Amino acid sequence: CSTLGIGLAGVGTVGSGVILALRRNGELIRDRTGGTVEMTVTKALVRDPAKPRAVSLPDETLTTDWHELVEDPAVDIVVELIGGTTDAFDIVAAALRAKKPVVTGNKALLAERGIELFALSREFDTPVHFEAAVAGGIPIIKTVQESFIGNRIHSMSGIINGTSNYILERMTTAGLDFETALAEAQQLGYAEADPALDVNGWDAAHKAILLATLAYGFPIDPEKVHVAGIECVRPIDIDFAKRLGYVVKLLAVVREHPDGSVELRVQPSFIAKSHILASVNGVFNAVAVHGDAAGESLFYGRGAGQDPTASSVVADLVEAARSLRQATGHRGFLPYREGGRLMPIE
Ligand code: NAP
Ligand code: HSE
Repeated sequence: CSTLGIGLAGVGTVGSGVILALRRNGELIRDRTGGTVEMTVTKALVRDPAKPRAVSLPDETLTTDWHELVEDPAVDIVVELIGGTTDAFDIVAAALRAKKPVVTGNKALLAERGIELFALSREFDTPVHFEAAVAGGIPIIKTVQESFIGNRIHSMSGIINGTSNYILERMTTAGLDFETALAEAQQLGYAEADPALDVNGWDAAHKAILLATLAYGFPIDPEKVHVAGIECVRPIDIDFAKRLGYVVKLLAVVREHPDGSVELRVQPSFIAKSHILASVNGVFNAVAVHGDAAGESLFYGRGAGQDPTASSVVADLVEAARSLRQATGHRGFLPYREGGRLMPIE
């Protein structure tokens, strides 16, 4: 099959991770899709082409003009990883109008302007995939959209901001002050370009809005969501929690009430040390989804950072590529290849 071209907007933490993942596992993806999906980055949008990067790309691939990225006939799928809600909106909207499937990890964009974008997606019959927008490498979007499709969802709750969780843990276990712990999270590539969104609770709120929209199907006005972040948590609060047998975590809660109304809030909370969420540390996230048929399931994994987020972007890319190829590959089948080896039993 011919190779599909990716137009990659953003070659920062996540964008670089996507390039590295495709280089590392491109052959594996081709084999697992029965040879139907082969992808390469044909255009990449950055702000500053001269900036030193973790991944090298040919000069002719880099551009600072997003129109080029969307209009290039060698681009079949557009991946938006620049963040923000202005340029990112223009890029995604233009890609949809050009009938190019979009993959994005931008929860702020979808929570704030998703209504407009999904209207375009429907109008131009072109999908927007966004697994990476919530909980990094945990396949929580697929879980809510697909695995729980036969459930009425009663609630979804947990820890969905890796930066806050990392900061709280470093303040609790290493006694770091807030600013030092935040600087570490930034250095590790967990924080947003504007880390205010992490520490004021809005990144978690954007993600909760997306989950709630998927589960309950109505538009949610961000202004009506109760949001408090960890910026007001001080060492004395953490000490106080410790002495009472609790830890402080930033919790996001989405819950349907018996009258059909949906409660949605994000706030720092005391969690008993014996509770499973108390042991979700560092950049890890955990989301408990409670469905009427499945009961409660807990999803745990790395919620931010280069590789876990790239993992979700690549999964979406494969899905987008499969639809373009109208190929199922091995989906629904067990893959089979000659020559695999089991280690002998001793
Ligand atoms: P980042 O490291 O700051 O990278 C942003 C990239 O976009 C950079 O390459 C930058 O160019 C480019 N860029 C930014 N604004 C641009 C503009 N107006 N025009 C052209 N290029 C522009 O960000 P990131 O951490 O990779 O995050 C990207 C997206 O993924 C965000 O929406 C974020 O919320 C989401 N996300 C991030 C994580 C994570 O763990 N980091 C996890 C899940 C989702 P230069 O390199 O030239 O500056
Ligand atoms: N800044 C986000 C976080 C990235 O720390 O969770 C993952 O969405």
